Amino acid sequence: MYANRPGPGSHVASGSLMVAAQARGNDVGRALTTDMIGWARRSGFAAIQFNAVVDTNTAAVHLYESLGYVTLGTAPGAFRHPLLGPVGLRIMWLDLRSSVGGGRASDSSVADNGFDLPKLVGATGFEPVTPRL
Ligand SMILES: CC(C)(COP(=O)(O)OP(=O)(O)OC[C@H]1O[C@@H](n2cnc3c(N)ncnc32)[C@H](O)[C@@H]1OP(=O)(O)O)[C@@H](O)C(=O)NCCC(=O)NCCS
Repeated sequence: MYANRPGPGSHVASGSLMVAAQARGNDVGRALTTDMIGWARRSGFAAIQFNAVVDTNTAAVHLYESLGYVTLGTAPGAFRHPLLGPVGLRIMWLDLRSSVGGGRASDSSVADNGFDLPKLVGATGFEPVTPRL
């Protein structure tokens, strides 16, 4: 989890997430994504932008859309899929300044789910960026 761009772009968050193949389908991705939204809100980011969501990644697209992300656009054929050939790359966006952004899961549900992701992030020594809005 980090600022999407330095300087004038540092008020928008971004991040990368991956769940181990054997752990998928157990709501871990949802917990990670929901935790990221809470972190971005607390850190004062205006939005979260995922820069390159592969169009055929149905799990990621479904997960993000269920939490309120929208697709701003798709770069056609920008990803050379090893099996499918050239497929699109979506830019997905969650506006944190509107009251609707963030989807169905609340911060409190994150606290109840048993994951302590802020602690894990803290253990990496990563310092969240507090943007000047
Ligand atoms: C995308 C990813 C993080 C999802 O993690 P996960 O732990 O399997 O996801 P969850 O178990 O929290 O499921 C989240 C939602 O996606 C749905 N989902 C999971 N796998 C799916 C699939 N293959 N097709 C469609 N929907 C799927 C789940 O049903 C769930 O939706 P629901 O709550 O409405 O039922 C994981 O598949 C992954 O690490 N993929 C490889 C890396 C990657 O693509 N990262 C994202 C880059 S943008």
